Amino acid sequence: MRHLYVHIPFCPKVCPYCSFYKEASDRNKTQAFLDAVLLELDTFGSAGIQPHTIFFGGGTPSALSTRQLDYLIRGLRDRLDLSALREWTLEMNPATVSEEKAELLLSLGVNRISMGVQAWQSDLLARLGRVHSATQALRSYQILRQAGFRRINLDLIFGIPGQTPAQWQESLLQTINLGPEHISAYCLTYEEDTEFFRQLAIGQLSQDEFQDADLFEMTMDTLTRYGYSQYEISNYALPGEECLHNLAYWSGNDYLGLGPSAFSMVSGHRWQNISNTSSYVEQIERGGNAHSFSESLSLETRLSEKIVFGLRMNQGIAEELLMPWSANVQDLEDAGYLQRRAGTISLSRSGRMVADAIGEVFV
Ligand SMILES: C[S@@+](CC[C@H](N)C(=O)[O-])C[C@H]1O[C@@H](n2cnc3c(N)ncnc32)[C@H](O)[C@@H]1O
Ligand code: SF4
Repeated sequence: MRHLYVHIPFCPKVCPYCSFYKEASDRNKTQAFLDAVLLELDTFGSAGIQPHTIFFGGGTPSALSTRQLDYLIRGLRDRLDLSALREWTLEMNPATVSEEKAELLLSLGVNRISMGVQAWQSDLLARLGRVHSATQALRSYQILRQAGFRRINLDLIFGIPGQTPAQWQESLLQTINLGPEHISAYCLTYEEDTEFFRQLAIGQLSQDEFQDADLFEMTMDTLTRYGYSQYEISNYALPGEECLHNLAYWSGNDYLGLGPSAFSMVSGHRWQNISNTSSYVEQIERGGNAHSFSESLSLETRLSEKIVFGLRMNQGIAEELLMPWSANVQDLEDAGYLQRRAGTISLSRSGRMVADAIGEVFV
């Protein structure tokens, strides 16, 4: 088990577009949640686990207080063999960054921060229901750098209702100016069970797919021009700064996920924990697991998933994996969506524009 994910389901405030499992921070629940995560880890014989990467995602891990982060991270450190650890990422919201927190995280071994900036314009931040201002995002970035974080990712979103191409260009350039090692640029998706989805359904919001495609092209052009290589559809990194945890996940490696809603994949077996913090804590405290579903993946499903995820990465996948679909591959190559290169097949630039549809061919 080389890759460990911990889901922290708390946020300072819930954003109307987001479908990750989260709830508004609740002080009464947090200690029991932290103990449950450590207890869940113990059920896997934690001493034998030697992770190469750890990823604290959410929700908002930085919504935990400095004391709570200290408790959780020390709990993990006491249990795991960290001698092979290369990357420990923690997601932060700019509203929950402090000098004290940043210094503690660094001193306990967290060596990479991923922070959700989304946009640098106050009207767009308000549209997204974010709790922080652009000034606060800038200050938080500086706090992280001054504390000594050398690897930082900033998340951005394009396709925000009301966002103009000029604003997106400005967001990209302002982000590049700060020089983070990694930039994730996501197209806004209207996820079911979100407030934005409801507003889209009743016509209060509208989506301009043609503009979204233009903004995606602008993203690829701008970021690559400044030295960020697009190693996955939505992820760009300076040389050698790719996120190792996500690369492992997209390459189909095993990973263990702790916390409510977390997925795990171990030896062809996949499960997801229940997406409810109170039920998760109760089930773990009772000594059981907290799975909401589990499945054994057939070889065909594992192959399909490897292809779908592999094609999202610019390194592509080995040509021989696509043998069963050779006719489809030829058609997609002729249409200019796929390209062959030294025994690998990857999406061309126009293929990246329709990656989801291409993925479906191989499911
Ligand atoms: C778990 S959050 C990151 C940390 C922190 N919770 C925050 O929002 O600042 C992961 C990222 O997913 C992206 N995201 C969430 N919902 C999205 C959506 N519906 N469409 C596109 N990107 C989304 C945002 O860029 C967000 O920063
Ligand atoms: S985008 Fe981040 S802060 Fe907003 S609800 Fe989702 S996880 Fe929480």
